[in-house]
Amino acid sequence: MADLIVRVQDLTKKFENTVAVDNISLEIGSGEIVGLLGPNGAGKTTLIHMLLGILLPSQGSIQIFGLDLASHREEILAHANFSSAYVMMPMSLSPWQNLNVFAKLYNIPHSGEKIEWALKKMEIWDLKDRATRGLSSGQISRLNLAKAILNDPELLLLDEPTASMDPDIADKTRRILKEIQKEHRMTILYTSHNMAEVETMAERVFFLNKGKIVAEGSPKELQNKFNQGTLEEVFLKIART
Ligand SMILES: Nc1ncnc2c1ncn2[C@@H]1O[C@H](COP(=O)(O)OP(=O)(O)OP(=O)(O)O)[C@@H](O)[C@H]1O
Ligand SMILES: [Mg+2]
Repeated sequence: MADLIVRVQDLTKKFENTVAVDNISLEIGSGEIVGLLGPNGAGKTTLIHMLLGILLPSQGSIQIFGLDLASHREEILAHANFSSAYVMMPMSLSPWQNLNVFAKLYNIPHSGEKIEWALKKMEIWDLKDRATRGLSSGQISRLNLAKAILNDPELLLLDEPTASMDPDIADKTRRILKEIQKEHRMTILYTSHNMAEVETMAERVFFLNKGKIVAEGSPKELQNKFNQGTLEEVFLKIART
């Protein structure tokens, strides 16, 4: 594998009565787009939140860029970013103002140009001065993605980034993400319940079920292994057994 960007070892997260992530280990190499799949409640968001240091593991270790997350969180997060269709920004601010707050937090040089670049990339430049509360959910998702690329992250964690987008915008967004990924050689970990999307985006996928990795490989390898014609059918087979 190329340079290791993420190394997770024996990672577990327990909530009172739930083992949300159950002793998983995985590695992600530089420049990979990796899909994280699994049924509702499988542990995907919990894993992503641990990779962001928002949740502390009950057991196990996380290394990102070769550094231990527990002791180098700030350094790591300066070069990583996150987006989810379910995260809200302050609604009374405009998209431009919201991104300006993040540009300051990330200490981004020439921030005005960078904000313009991100808003134009996500094709919401014309909405920049409206109140965010007036945006549709798909437009807010694109604003979240514009935020997520502002610091030219080397690692991008995307939790259902296209969940609220119409098929046309979702397709455009996938193209844009692929384009930026190539230009900047970003590493992306991606969750989605849209299996067709994962087939087009991810070179490799991890299937989580009840907190455990139950399968891993390229979409094609998994179709062959489980003797199914599509990733959707692989998903159904794994989720129902
Ligand atoms: N803060 C919490 N307190 C208690 N239980 C939690 C908490 N966060 C998550 N869980 C539980 O952990 C399990 C994994 O949840 P998680 O959100 O990681 O699943 P997911 O794979 O992201 O699901 P979805 O596809 O629905 O987004 C679930 O059973 C959930 O109820
Ligand atoms: Mg989730």
